[in-house]
Amino acid sequence: MSFRLQPATPARPNRCQLFGPGSRPAIFEKMASSEADVINLDLEDSVAPDDKPEARKNIIEAIGDIDWGKKHLSVRINGLDTPYWYRDVVDLLEQSSERLDQIMIPKVGCAADLYAVDALVTAIETAKGRKKKIAFEVIIESAAGVAHVEEIAAASPRLQAMSLGAADYAASMGMQTTGIGGTQENYYMLHGETRHYSDPWHWVQTAIVAACRTHGVLPVDGPFGDFSDDEGFRAQSRRSATLGMVGKWAIHPKQIALANEVFTPSAEAVAEAREILAAMEQAKKDGLGATVYKGRLVDIASIKQAEVIVSQAELLSAG
Ligand code: COA
Ligand code: MG
Repeated sequence: MSFRLQPATPARPNRCQLFGPGSRPAIFEKMASSEADVINLDLEDSVAPDDKPEARKNIIEAIGDIDWGKKHLSVRINGLDTPYWYRDVVDLLEQSSERLDQIMIPKVGCAADLYAVDALVTAIETAKGRKKKIAFEVIIESAAGVAHVEEIAAASPRLQAMSLGAADYAASMGMQTTGIGGTQENYYMLHGETRHYSDPWHWVQTAIVAACRTHGVLPVDGPFGDFSDDEGFRAQSRRSATLGMVGKWAIHPKQIALANEVFTPSAEAVAEAREILAAMEQAKKDGLGATVYKGRLVDIASIKQAEVIVSQAELLSAG
């Protein structure tokens, strides 16, 4: 047992991160009026190489011109293995208004990747006299990213969130699939004749959650590619929420309500958590460390479990 207290994560809702290509400014207003908590304007893989300069311009204009309300506004820059990323950072930090909250760094492989971006961002912020310090979020989507996940989570005080990028992760790991998240046809155990499907994303998700919770970073599930499959999206999201992730990306507007539904604790779950807290309050008065609630054991650890749900509900209702 460590004497160090687990740090709190940033106190803001992050149930759904809605993505849109920077080269498609016609959808920016729709993104701003959506129910997503976080907006990710993309300069990376949804933008063709020739369109990068135009996408940067569109995004810089939109950051200042569009009313983004209370949304957490993030721009995904290009990876450090490309010739585009430095220009993304320089133009964004030199030219965009202070409405920009965060930049997302894709394909991070080690802590030094964040150090490099931090050095550039810090220099521009200082040179330009920007008041708001830009936050970072990263995507774990390579073998190196997951191998170094803990040092990445600890790499910068700017870091607020970490997502799993299932498609690039699968490619980097050499996984035999073209699916982006969800159930994979060939990942099953046989029991007699019956196939029991297993979850190939479980290990990396758990590694991300552990690294994030150790260092006070929000763990987020990334994209689910088949946006015609609502039940598949729900199932993937429910597994992620059960493992401790706080939200999921939407790569199409129809996924926003699904993510909000799963990552908002239900009224029943909140009521039950409050009842557990009340039962433990009574136990404390009675001088007991453990008691029985609905026929099952609850003890001091149950208080912490119940508080996860209640504090999430309170955070969301405060927003
Ligand atoms: N955000 C907000 N609105 C969006 C949107 C988005 N990401 N994608 C589509 N819409 C709008 C469309 O403009 C359309 O609006 P309308 O009803 O007013 O005409 C409506 O939602 C339905 O769109 P639809 O026709 O079903 O989709 P599409 O063919 O226009 O676009 C995608 C589909 C997948 C190409 C598009 O959703 C997209 O680019 N998603 C994000 C991709 C991305 O950023 N990837 C990087 C992260 S993995
Ligand atoms: Mg990717």
